Amino acid sequence: MNFAFRKSESRQPRARVAPASVIAVASGKGGVGKTWLSTTLAASFAKMGRRTLLVDGDLGLANVDVQLGIAPETDLAAVIAGWVELEDAVTPINGGAGASCGFDVLPGRSGSGALAGLPPDEASRLAAGLTALSLQYDIVLVDLGAGIEDNVMRLARACDRCLVVATDEPTSMTDAYAFIKVLRGYAPSVQPWLAINMADTRVAGRRTYEALARASQTFLGFRPPMAGIVLRDPKVREAIRQQKTLVSIDPQAQAALDAAQIAEALVRGGAEGVAQSA
Ligand SMILES: Nc1ncnc2c1ncn2[C@@H]1O[C@H](COP(=O)(O)OP(=O)(O)OP(=O)(O)O)[C@@H](O)[C@H]1O
Ligand SMILES: [Mg+2]
Repeated sequence: MNFAFRKSESRQPRARVAPASVIAVASGKGGVGKTWLSTTLAASFAKMGRRTLLVDGDLGLANVDVQLGIAPETDLAAVIAGWVELEDAVTPINGGAGASCGFDVLPGRSGSGALAGLPPDEASRLAAGLTALSLQYDIVLVDLGAGIEDNVMRLARACDRCLVVATDEPTSMTDAYAFIKVLRGYAPSVQPWLAINMADTRVAGRRTYEALARASQTFLGFRPPMAGIVLRDPKVREAIRQQKTLVSIDPQAQAALDAAQIAEALVRGGAEGVAQSA
């Protein structure tokens, strides 16, 4: 395939003083809330005034567009097919990045399977294109697919940090640990962070974090920083059902506030991120 990453004439790239922070959202196990957290973090970063791009990096079962209730004209599948440039597949939400509470999305294509079997060189090329595009943003979030396949890791490798989402279910914890372990081997420069989702209480969430951090410390020799805990909140399901971000429909909902704290921890960086969540 042949897709170039030229500068779009229609979009005005912004001069940047520092490279964007590119953050993958991963989990190993499916269904733990990666996509919901990615969309909610994108809205939170936008609210904080950060120019934000949300990339649907779930090449097999993309659904950022579904959770946001958008029907994009172009998407990553069109980019891979060589029909549009990467920049031109960007869809603005609420006026797009730079607008008040707006952000940009690079959507996948729900259920098409078009990107599921992407050859390795094209996945790497896509990752390189995202790195180039990230120069126009403060924050780039990449919602990864579940699992630890090579293409998931190829996209993760293009990121600075990887927010690994886990719940208290043993399968989620095992898979989150496996993801961190594989990431350390595949992309040692990418810093894994942990977020605990759907916690019943903060104490329970903290316990889940400690168990994962301890396993990582013991067997991998490092302790991933804690980004934060999101409590289980029925309003998450309601927001997804309405295909809107929780930040836009109920910014005071507990899960929206928890996600905003994670966004702040990620912006502030490691040590403070650990402190705020203690
Ligand atoms: N904090 C929360 N409180 C309550 N429910 C939640 C919370 N976070 C996520 N959920 C529920 O979990 C479901 C799965 O979320 P989501 O689709 O974001 O997971 P995912 O990790 O992206 O899944 P996949 O691996 O299939 O891409 C949502 O439909 C939502 O109902
Ligand atoms: Mg998802």
